[in-house]
Amino acid sequence: MESPDWTSDTVDPDQPSAARMYDYYLGGSHNFASDRELARRVLEVFPDGQLIAQANRAFLHRGVRYLHSKGIRQFLDLGSGIPTAGNVHEIVPDATVVYVDLDPVAVAHSEAILADVDRAGIVEADIRRAANTLEHPVTRALLDFSQPIGLLMVAVLHFVQSDEEARAVATSFRDALPAGSALVLGHGSLDDQPEKAKRLMEIYRESANPSRPRSRDAIEGLLDGWSLAEPGLAWVVSWRPDWPDEADADPSWCGNYGAVGWKA
Ligand SMILES: C[S@@+](CC[C@H](N)C(=O)[O-])C[C@H]1O[C@@H](n2cnc3c(N)ncnc32)[C@H](O)[C@@H]1O
Repeated sequence: MESPDWTSDTVDPDQPSAARMYDYYLGGSHNFASDRELARRVLEVFPDGQLIAQANRAFLHRGVRYLHSKGIRQFLDLGSGIPTAGNVHEIVPDATVVYVDLDPVAVAHSEAILADVDRAGIVEADIRRAANTLEHPVTRALLDFSQPIGLLMVAVLHFVQSDEEARAVATSFRDALPAGSALVLGHGSLDDQPEKAKRLMEIYRESANPSRPRSRDAIEGLLDGWSLAEPGLAWVVSWRPDWPDEADADPSWCGNYGAVGWKA
């Protein structure tokens, strides 16, 4: 069978990836049978999994719009994933955006949709080696490090296994940005559902990107050096919802905390 044009020789279709499983949750078509099979096992444990992915994406959108309303005009989106409806450069078309991901399908599809877009680019890099992103020619050509930058780390740091390494990633990128920059952080947390957390980790261990939800305290530790905007660290569905009157009585169903912070 002929391979679709969004794949490449470096992609193993039998090895599920977090990027393609997320694409499946969001109703995308850039995923293989192995991704769908593993994603369906996740959905057996989390029947709201597709709503969770949508809630996560909606939080990212609200965070980006908020930063834009405060004057941020350039964004560094770490673990940007397979392009989907409402990519950052589409939400804020006058801003400059650098997307970063290590998944070859996410990179190939991003390259395809950005081919005619001057103000956005994609870097193929592992964020655990921050210098590879920060010194990449695409990053240097598009972002002006003398001006504030909006750093997006949404649903990506829970793919960095050790707490120490996750903190090192957060610190390296924070330190590289000028004063006035801002962070949108989203991170999985299943403190009150330990059995489900265990099953989720077991399932994702079969993918190329094992996942590791963290406690609220550990996530707070990733926000060191950022002064948090109201309401601080909150479940993503409770972070400045578009329709506050419809706020959930128990927002913990979304399993992801979010926060936006400013660098002094
Ligand atoms: C769940 S998706 C989130 C996509 C997007 N940030 C969002 O919130 O809608 C996680 C993405 O992070 C990427 N990722 C995981 N670990 C990474 C790493 N060490 N470096 C770069 N990207 C990574 C995956 O390939 C995937 O595309």
